Amino acid sequence: MNDTRKIALVTGGTGGIGTEICRHLARQGRQVIAAHLAAESEQAAAWQKKQCEAGFDIALVVVDVTSFESCEAMAKGVEERFGGIDILVNCAGITRDVTLRKMDTEQWSAVLSTNLDSVFNVTRQVIEGMTERGFGRIVNISSVNGQKGQFGQTNYAAAKAGMHGFTKSLALEGARKGVTVNTVSPGYIATEMVMAMSEEIRSQIIGTVPIGRLGKPEEIGRAVAFLCDDDSGYITGADFSVNGGLYMS
Ligand code: CAA
Ligand code: NAP
Repeated sequence: MNDTRKIALVTGGTGGIGTEICRHLARQGRQVIAAHLAAESEQAAAWQKKQCEAGFDIALVVVDVTSFESCEAMAKGVEERFGGIDILVNCAGITRDVTLRKMDTEQWSAVLSTNLDSVFNVTRQVIEGMTERGFGRIVNISSVNGQKGQFGQTNYAAAKAGMHGFTKSLALEGARKGVTVNTVSPGYIATEMVMAMSEEIRSQIIGTVPIGRLGKPEEIGRAVAFLCDDDSGYITGADFSVNGGLYMS
């Protein structure tokens, strides 16, 4: 039985996968807060209304995960409004796919900063509180391409692989304090990020997936909620693949 007073923060919470993570955590009875970019406030308000109509009461906060100061302000705001964050899902992410021969420093830095620096920027704000309260669940959304590499994704694969080292190290630090830290590595999931690829390349990739289709965002939401359950305290430092068999480690 989960403690329904626990506070769950999901970065990238209004995105394709983030939405389903929020919904699954809300079904667990958590107070869920979706963090989004300030520039997306109008879309986020419409998103919140839609979730409410579907029976999900999800709060919104503004953050830019590439900025430590923004993450600090966001965490303080959440603490004042709701209390300390007990469950954190680092889900915000971007791609800038291009071969290394053509990659510029902006494409490298934007991906490293949004997908990896962000994990430090946000997690650093919540780790002390989790440790003091003796409970925490942290899930970092990595990628199959952080495990196997992908043509055109040196930046993205480096960032997503970096998450695994962070996860395993923090799992050791949190192990005696009730704080678990895990990674979920999705395969190709039907969201805007995957739909942004050319149809031709997407079809080629789907052809290589043993299950023969893209994953659904709710299939990631289920895995994340499982790891965040009060009763999942013995799972830490793990990497959960949800990839239709695309990569088996
Ligand atoms: N393997 C080997 N060679 C490849 C290749 C591949 N997969 N794809 C292209 N090439 C070759 C081409 O045949 C061509 O060769 P020649 O120069 O000898 O003719 C050359 O590479 C083309 O190189 P370019 O730099 O011109 O590449 P491009 O501009 O055509 O396309 C790209 C580059 C945009 C990265 C494109 O390959 C692409 O979109 N790839 C898919 C990347 C991908 O999977 N992204 C995932 C996005 S979703 C996501 O990231 C979520 C998640 O976590 C799963
Ligand atoms: P998405 O719909 O584009 O969601 C990404 C979210 O991250 C968006 O809500 C986006 O906000 C937010 N974001 C981007 N930059 C941010 C920043 N600086 N500060 C705060 N929020 C920011 O894509 P998705 O497919 O759901 O991806 C979610 C996560 O899963 C990403 O980390 C991605 O790498 C990972 N993943 C996806 C797949 C897949 O196949 N889809 C596979 C493996 C892993 P805006 O919309 O406002 O920009």
